Amino acid sequence: MIPFDFQPRTRIVFGSDKIDTLGQLAGELGARRALVVSDPEIIAAGHTERGVAALSAAGIDTFLFDGVHENPTTDDVDAGLKMAQRHDPELIVGLGGGSSMDCAKGINFLYTNGGSMKDYWGVGKALRELLPMIAVPTTAGTGSETQSFALISDAKTHVKMACGDKKASFRIALLDPKLTITQPHNITAVTGIDALAHALETYVTKPRNPVSLAFSREAWLLLAENFETVLENPQDLSARAGMQMGACFAGLAIENSMLGAAHALANPLTTHYNIVHGQAIGIMLPHVIRFNSVPCGTWYHDLLEMSSVTSNVAGTDSSAERLAQFVNGLVTKAGLPLRLTQCGVSEQQLSALARDAATQWTGSFNPRQVNHAELLELYQQAM
Ligand SMILES: [Fe+2]
Repeated sequence: MIPFDFQPRTRIVFGSDKIDTLGQLAGELGARRALVVSDPEIIAAGHTERGVAALSAAGIDTFLFDGVHENPTTDDVDAGLKMAQRHDPELIVGLGGGSSMDCAKGINFLYTNGGSMKDYWGVGKALRELLPMIAVPTTAGTGSETQSFALISDAKTHVKMACGDKKASFRIALLDPKLTITQPHNITAVTGIDALAHALETYVTKPRNPVSLAFSREAWLLLAENFETVLENPQDLSARAGMQMGACFAGLAIENSMLGAAHALANPLTTHYNIVHGQAIGIMLPHVIRFNSVPCGTWYHDLLEMSSVTSNVAGTDSSAERLAQFVNGLVTKAGLPLRLTQCGVSEQQLSALARDAATQWTGSFNPRQVNHAELLELYQQAM
């Protein structure tokens, strides 16, 4: 019997054109002034304007912070904080991809609890309640909408700080699949691989439990069955909806069972080589699946059997090998690199990267223990 402590904190509202209900939902949370955190691409796509219009129609004064960058830094959070201090919001809306949602959480930490982002690095560091927040994701990837971590990079050192606190959970995740249709191909690709990795890593971590497994399974089914379709036919709303729900459920799985070695290996690649998170994950995940095959072979087998997309993949290879090959195939179809050498990583740097990877908290949840030697070998296999 595996014990668990399931604390659902986020109401999930799903449906086409649900963005137009943002004002009504914000009103239900009692807000009269809202800070909307978004980024220039999402604003250019028109989604932010629609959200702001819905808030205004409900009589809510809205202030837009448009200074979010990819992999948001402490500078982004500080700029957003200044805006919050000027306008005294009662609600924060993160409208965009993981960067906008994480930046919204970061601003909220500092606005309500003071200090700097470093003070919230780790888990449960906020002493006071945060302002209520609504997430409106426009990508299907991070799952930030349903988990309580904000990934904020130190603007000077580029170190990614995972700042987690149940109080930083969004009160509402507003999922409108139509908003995800405007994603450019490369964003669909890197965010989709990331979401898939969330489903696969959470399914085998040490803290896996009946609650996390339910979300990992459903996320895996939705993502495995819809990823190719959204790559080939980005306008397919039903496939986009599947990806969006899959990413959201994978976020709930992360919240309940954490992540594993693929994320420990990917973070240093982003820090030191500026490799996009989903790209780094796509390169490392197949190697981690093979590495985990000894304790997790039957679990990988269950996943392959479960999905109609993978149950027919015949072959005499082990389940881990077949699953790794399936992921490799998707990475290739997504047009992403399979090798670190394609991203400019040099052999001489691998030992330092492995040292950094060994300090990543997320690696401690991997089903098979990873220290410097194992992580170095995984990097070498990916060259
Ligand atoms: Fe990720």
